[in-house]
Amino acid sequence: MSVVYDRKTSAFTLHTERTTWQMQVDPYGFLLHLYYGSRTDGVMDYLLPFADRGFSGNPDEAGADRTYSLDVLPQEYPFWGQGDYRSPALIIRDGAGTFGCSLKYKHHTIQSGKYSLPGLPAVYADENEADTLIITLEDDASGLKAELLYGVLPSCDIITRAVRFTNQGNRRIVLERAFTTSLDFTGGDYDVVTFYGRHAMERSTQRVHACHGIREISSRRGMSSHQYNPMLILADRDASEDSGRCWSMQFVYSGSFKGLVETDQFNQTRMQMGLMDDLFSCPLAPGEVFIAPEVIHSFSSTGFSSLSHNLHSCIRKHVCRGYWKDRVRPVLINSWEAAYFDFNADTILRLARSASGLGAELVVMDDGWFGTRNNDCEGLGDWQTNEKKLGCSLKELAERINKLNMRFGIWIEPEMVNERSRLFKEHPDWVLAVPGRKPVRSRQQLVLDFSRKDVVDAVFSQLCTVFDDVPVDYIKWDCNRSVADIFSHDTADQGKVLYDYMLGVYRLLEMLLSRYPHILIEGCSGGGGRFDAGMLYYTPQIWCSDNTDAIDRLYIQYGTSFGYPLSVTGSHVSACPNGQNGRNTPLKTRILTAMAGTFGYELDPDKLSEEERIIIKNQTALQKELAPLIRDGFYYRLTDPMVSPVCAWEIVSEDRSEVLLFAVMTELHGNMPVSCLRMKGLQPGCMYREMQTGKLFPSDALMDAGLPLPCEPGEYHSYLFHFKCN
Ligand code: DGJ
Repeated sequence: MSVVYDRKTSAFTLHTERTTWQMQVDPYGFLLHLYYGSRTDGVMDYLLPFADRGFSGNPDEAGADRTYSLDVLPQEYPFWGQGDYRSPALIIRDGAGTFGCSLKYKHHTIQSGKYSLPGLPAVYADENEADTLIITLEDDASGLKAELLYGVLPSCDIITRAVRFTNQGNRRIVLERAFTTSLDFTGGDYDVVTFYGRHAMERSTQRVHACHGIREISSRRGMSSHQYNPMLILADRDASEDSGRCWSMQFVYSGSFKGLVETDQFNQTRMQMGLMDDLFSCPLAPGEVFIAPEVIHSFSSTGFSSLSHNLHSCIRKHVCRGYWKDRVRPVLINSWEAAYFDFNADTILRLARSASGLGAELVVMDDGWFGTRNNDCEGLGDWQTNEKKLGCSLKELAERINKLNMRFGIWIEPEMVNERSRLFKEHPDWVLAVPGRKPVRSRQQLVLDFSRKDVVDAVFSQLCTVFDDVPVDYIKWDCNRSVADIFSHDTADQGKVLYDYMLGVYRLLEMLLSRYPHILIEGCSGGGGRFDAGMLYYTPQIWCSDNTDAIDRLYIQYGTSFGYPLSVTGSHVSACPNGQNGRNTPLKTRILTAMAGTFGYELDPDKLSEEERIIIKNQTALQKELAPLIRDGFYYRLTDPMVSPVCAWEIVSEDRSEVLLFAVMTELHGNMPVSCLRMKGLQPGCMYREMQTGKLFPSDALMDAGLPLPCEPGEYHSYLFHFKCN
């Protein structure tokens, strides 16, 4: 059992293979955090800082003991109400409207297997792969019960947390802030690593000192957002890819969130993640339950590579589900950058025919096949095929594509509506809009009120009409704006609408997956605006960014790789000059960059030269051969592209017998110094053969001295070396 309760010391210990998390119920019933770090035995209550600190109050239970203050002691789930002035995880208002509570330990249960969360995505595991600890805390005055749920997955060094609140009192309680997790560190000096960005430039990496004050990442957009990914890393100041301690939090939720790191007056650090508390206020009637979505925690004492390996394995094996979970995904050709809105059935057939000759297996008809959709100003919400535009029925098109031995996929954006649509004309009250005010438009579209069951059911029924009739193998689920207007006609409590909206999205996804279990759904939100572990529970791959320029993609995919495996990262080869930034890059570089993902094409194959067609054909065949290794291998970042003239990464098979090394030159200067890449994760004491040249290399030398890259004139050269253990 990976969860241990020691009655003598009232300590709870969670063990994974290489980590330990510990907390303790103190004599007053408060739950204090003791430790999260390398695996160890013992009770770490010697770490508790008892000291008489000015302006740090003492709870009544401590009597005259001025050294006991919740403002100083590390807590497992800090709440507002007992004199802790640092960032609380929980703020409630009780029946009288008063802020605060005092959560005390009541009891706990330990069970084998991993808890699940009704209506919400969560890490899952077999009975023998995980254990669950539930600690029940209660606030006697208000009647609030907070059950802290812990899931322990020893083999991937993962600990998950969620909180289930129940109002056991007889008056209404309001949750004004209900974060999922909080982690206190009494010592140390740390850096905070975050992933910020914008549309078409997501998940840039930023590393800064966790100095005094609060560093926050957040979204109040109703979506996890392009601007900040819901993932946070705290690391030793000298932590690197291969050394130093680092702790991560990753939200299994796709809506508004907040993550923060606070360094306090005594140089103590608090790290938190959970639901965004702005625009949030969740009333709980007597007997009502509310669940704060799950956060995935991991710790590594050997730097970021191992931390990423833990997260990758958790996402691949315990978040992604269904038919496509362990299957190599089809190489796809998408119509968007090839034709935008300007296509008919012949265009799609032409793309399919031409791309099939290059090795593609799936053609995706992107935005524009339904309603009156010929541009981005109309049609959203009307999920009926525009047969006039296509020139045939959707079924006929799908069947003709299948005859070419290609699978068929389509684009949908179920959460949205254009005012110029039949749906909006018939149901103007189905959108999120504040009475008396005009809603904010974005891309000329409004957001449907997915917090309403009837709205979600109506969209589901429209989609079923399509998918019941047409053999669709793949859906691209897009979402092209942030929520701005928060008002639902269905409720008097607007402070929970964004949360209920997200639950509505999850419900629709779940209904589609259970009705059409073989359809592969790729998530998308203007590229990677909702690239999170919550969506990955339903969509085992997500379009990483609308930016398909290979060089920008190196930076985007570098940041993404900290928390998410290549098997979920949608990446395609597009035409040059690139549609987003006008850059020209060699075709080989575009292909090798797209190989760090699910792989496909975003171009018109008929516009390729004969030479380009041959390269694509060969490289697609190579990609298919390497796809299982790319999907399942250990991923290593070999350079930091922010500071290095080369972006390089490596994939090593689980048994270390096979290795792929990818490198792209991002800088070009006169008389360039040689870039020598020190490889990682090889089997020491072995010889590895590079498959293209047949040359043998000693593994220890490859790891110590590295592999020199050729120095070639010209921009953005790229290299792929394939090694096998001899
Ligand atoms: C945004 C997506 O990211 C694109 O790939 C494309 O599907 C467009 N939406 C279509 O409107």
